[in-house]
Amino acid sequence: MTTTATEHAAAHDDAEILDALELARAGTLTILDPVPADEQQRQVSELMSPLCWDLAHIGHYEELWLVRALTDAPPTDARYDDIYDAFKHPRRERSSLPILDAPGARAFVASVRERTAAVLRSVGEDRLAPDGPDPLLASGFVYGMVVQHEHQHAETMLATLQLAGDFVHPLAGDAITASAPPAELPPDVLVPGGTFVMGTSAPGWSYDNEHPAHEVTLAPFRIDTAPVTNEAYLQFVDDGGYDDPRHWSDAGWAWRRQAGLVAPEFWVRDGGGGGWTRRRFGRVEALPAHEPVQHVCWFEADAFARWSGARLPTEAEWERAAQGADAAAANLWPDLSADEPSSHRWAPSPVGTRVAGASDLGVHHLLGDVWEWTSSDFHGYPGFRSFPYREYSEVFFGPDYKVLRGGSWATHRSAVRTTFRNWDFPIRRQIFAGFRCARDA
Ligand code: AVJ
Ligand code: FE
Repeated sequence: MTTTATEHAAAHDDAEILDALELARAGTLTILDPVPADEQQRQVSELMSPLCWDLAHIGHYEELWLVRALTDAPPTDARYDDIYDAFKHPRRERSSLPILDAPGARAFVASVRERTAAVLRSVGEDRLAPDGPDPLLASGFVYGMVVQHEHQHAETMLATLQLAGDFVHPLAGDAITASAPPAELPPDVLVPGGTFVMGTSAPGWSYDNEHPAHEVTLAPFRIDTAPVTNEAYLQFVDDGGYDDPRHWSDAGWAWRRQAGLVAPEFWVRDGGGGGWTRRRFGRVEALPAHEPVQHVCWFEADAFARWSGARLPTEAEWERAAQGADAAAANLWPDLSADEPSSHRWAPSPVGTRVAGASDLGVHHLLGDVWEWTSSDFHGYPGFRSFPYREYSEVFFGPDYKVLRGGSWATHRSAVRTTFRNWDFPIRRQIFAGFRCARDA
């Protein structure tokens, strides 16, 4: 078996840890390198930070956890604890802070990396071993955390670039069209009722919110074999779905009216006809019929589901349907090696083109195409304990956030698993999110 990046992220050997850190950095810089400095410094939306803030924040987080938490070393600059703390300033304020410019951010992350490597050499393999005395270092936990964090911000940067509107990213390439006609998948699968183990307590890298493993009992249900495609979503749009309050929750209808929603974000009316095109990384292109729909908020996903006589799955149902998918992870990113710095196809794969990557139950496109909205609010599992800091997950628990599962094409494969939980407000559309539907059986 070849070593995968997932294993690197949970590595407890110096060389593997450095490899995983370097792989994440190569991914970040692959995205940023073609972007001119002024574009990296621009605030493209109130919802996003300037790209150079994300980059320096990546470096600051690394300095906090891989240098300062492990040694007595002083910060590079004490002001960064304020400027680059995501909780101190909302995204819309960040371009007015005295942040590093693009070359400055680049130099900062490189100098932090040198300090990280020096500290790593002094840590010693005993403390990195699975039974090491310090929980932060045992099994290389904190290194895995910093690697995941960088990959997550790389995805955030891709969302910023998508929002930038007219900036054409040269790596985004042409829309992917299936080389062979996609396989016809059955529309859904029946998942028998019963008890399964949700979450994880296993060794191997995972966040606190994925713990502990616990039993959950589900009634039988049906779940779509694949995410809802652009073609299917277009039927909802053309059927007047956005104009009929019967399909929407009260809060969803209020938001649909207030925000003037008429179609997914980045859908653009095509010139003459009544059809739609879409804008992707600065270019307008035909709407690919078989690609999962992206850039819908939870309210739109919920309305589509009701319109089609279904509902969104709970996150427990999603995870049950996904069991066994990690075993097939080698097939989930068919075109790309695990060690490629930027494992990005810049779009989800068309439905029916990843037949080797299904779960044991025959559910497809679970990891690495689109984040999938679930009906669940974000809460801690029974027995949850925050580790190593409350601000990663715990402060977000409650009814304000909905859980998303599965990871998108913009998520690095080492930063997503079937137990991974993402969350966002139900109005957000800039993330690479779609959904699939479920039904009671
Ligand atoms: C898990 C994607 C919701 O971006 O707010 C980044 C990830 N946490 N830095 C976010 C994260 C700290 C987080 N999400
Ligand atoms: Fe962060």
